Amino acid sequence: MKILITGASGFIGGFLAAEGIRRGYEIHAGIRATSSRKYLPEGVRTVTLDLDDRELLRQQLSALGRFDYIIHNAGVTKCNKKTDFDRVNYQYTRHFVEALTESGTIPKKFLYVSSIAAYGPGNPVTLEPVRLSDTPHPDTLYGVSKLKAERFIAAQKDFPYLFIRPTGVYGPREKDYFVFLKTVNRHLEPAMGLKKQHLTFVYVTDLANVIYMALESEYVGKAWFVSDGKEYDNREYAAIVKKHLDKKALYLPVPLFLVKAISAVLDTVCGWFGVTPTLNRDKYRIMRATNWKCETEPLQKELGFVAEYDLDKGIEACVEWYKREKWL
Ligand SMILES: NC(=O)c1ccc[n+]([C@@H]2O[C@H](COP(=O)([O-])OP(=O)(O)OC[C@H]3O[C@@H](n4cnc5c(N)ncnc54)[C@H](OP(=O)(O)O)[C@@H]3O)[C@@H](O)[C@H]2O)c1
Repeated sequence: MKILITGASGFIGGFLAAEGIRRGYEIHAGIRATSSRKYLPEGVRTVTLDLDDRELLRQQLSALGRFDYIIHNAGVTKCNKKTDFDRVNYQYTRHFVEALTESGTIPKKFLYVSSIAAYGPGNPVTLEPVRLSDTPHPDTLYGVSKLKAERFIAAQKDFPYLFIRPTGVYGPREKDYFVFLKTVNRHLEPAMGLKKQHLTFVYVTDLANVIYMALESEYVGKAWFVSDGKEYDNREYAAIVKKHLDKKALYLPVPLFLVKAISAVLDTVCGWFGVTPTLNRDKYRIMRATNWKCETEPLQKELGFVAEYDLDKGIEACVEWYKREKWL
């Protein structure tokens, strides 16, 4: 069976490609001419897709023929120009879906890698997890763009979609959570504000597994949130990181107004140089939220998913990788 994976050159995409090869699929990595091929596993075929040009994309998809499954994973989680969230996450998804329809190459299943950010954080008072039955209320440009893409896909007649909404994804090669590991490695443990944060995570190979479980399931027209099924607070997260780095670190809670100001300065200054900072105004909104719990029972019941990695095992594996690759 043939699978097309967009954004296969990125962090999650590389693991999706590797898992597909492991499961015996013919994997086609849909990437840009400029994309790095460094982490594409052996056996993957690459195809250049121009998601920005609907007509060219239609021609490219016609020439490639019909795929059994498509995993649309390309997207931006942070960007320099704020309009890029809408352009890449929504408009390119729209182009892709329209080009598939016009070229008569709609696959058996089209799985969109969305995000919990499309729903926004859970209630900070009741601390109830974000549920599938909730009304989405994204509070970031990123989340809005992911929700807009979902809604466009779901509105297509007879379009065989699946939505996977991961919480924070971490693992080898990941660069944003890595900043925290690097900081702890330098004996500092910064915290966002003074309130306890309730966090959820999923290790990248577990996410890749879930995505194939969803494709191989009987389901279509469904969505799931994905985490490892556990909940952690920010101090627990930091304690696990310190344990595996074998480092002591100074606890440094930074008041939110200061984090906000730093985010704004970084956004502006980095913008002058065309660089996208890890901490920016949009990320600040994600990082200040105190409840990122999400409902995972449907995932367990319907797909039978049980995470192989909890945070302890996952961070241990990451630290090992970061050290081996001399990132730490
Ligand atoms: N990381 C997380 O915690 C997380 C959580 C929930 C959902 N997600 C979703 O997972 C997906 C993958 O995220 P990631 O963390 O793996 O990000 P990543 O490492 O930055 O990878 C993003 C991928 O998308 C491609 N891409 C970006 N801009 C593009 C454009 N303008 N045209 C075509 N391709 C473009 C990149 O291609 P190049 O290599 O050419 O730049 C890359 O292959 C995204 O859709 C994201 O919203 C991520």
